[in-house]
Amino acid sequence: MSWVTTTLSSSLGRKVVMSLTGLFLCTFLVVHLVGNLQLFKGDEGRAFNEYSYFMTHNPLIKTISYLLYASIIIHAVMALVLTRQNQASRPIKYAYARPEDNSHWTSRNMGILGTILLIFIVIHMRTFWYTMHFGPITLAGEEIQAGSIPQVTYDGEPIKDLYAVTTFAFSYLWYVILYVLSMAALAFHLVHGFQSGFQSLGLRHKKYSPLIEGIGTYVFGILIPALFAAMPVYIYLKVNHILF
Ligand code: HEM
Repeated sequence: MSWVTTTLSSSLGRKVVMSLTGLFLCTFLVVHLVGNLQLFKGDEGRAFNEYSYFMTHNPLIKTISYLLYASIIIHAVMALVLTRQNQASRPIKYAYARPEDNSHWTSRNMGILGTILLIFIVIHMRTFWYTMHFGPITLAGEEIQAGSIPQVTYDGEPIKDLYAVTTFAFSYLWYVILYVLSMAALAFHLVHGFQSGFQSLGLRHKKYSPLIEGIGTYVFGILIPALFAAMPVYIYLKVNHILF
């Protein structure tokens, strides 16, 4: 295991681990988005429930889930260690410091954006993942619906009705606002993070860098967060009979 300690004790090694876990989390987001797009189907949640059932019962995906939880924790811990290390190596601030002259706002605030996202992920997993696995519907720690999670039966097979949990959560305006603001943080985090991940791995090339920058900006920085943000908004408007 000495190569693990060697890698994690150098700042270059930590950056590589951050990049690999970050890019893995980007891949998860694409899969999660595609699955959650089923929410837009007008089928009373059947496709969404079947997708959620598959994701939580397929042995391979269940194994990848553990890698996902580990990646979230490792990514956050490495970010904290690297930030501390950078602060410690520069105990006295420069007399003349205008970082906005040579770096973008997002790159200077990755720590704050990442912290917002970590808080979002904890709230999000409490609402969906925890309810899915362990029980009654709660919002902000309060039990809203007693008993266990509702079930639906498709082709004679009873499965947990995660669509009901989702539509219930997004029927609250404050919860929708929380999601939309978090998706703004996700957009700014990914606009810098995606490209920076490739850069830290040394994967920069005159020919491919514009493509990576384009995907980072338009796909991960705009399209993906916008589609995620559209889900709670759409459900809020639908369940409250405002537009649909
Ligand atoms: C806004 C739209 C979103 C909806 C409707 C949604 C819905 C869900 C649901 C129903 C689950 C539990 C069932 C499952 O594991 O498939 C889940 C799990 C999860 N979500 Fe989301 N999600 C959304 C956005 C996000 C975003 C933006 C992130 C990350 C930044 C995220 C991270 C996660 C994670 C890490 C899990 C646990 C996955 C696992 O156990 O394998 N979700 N989400």
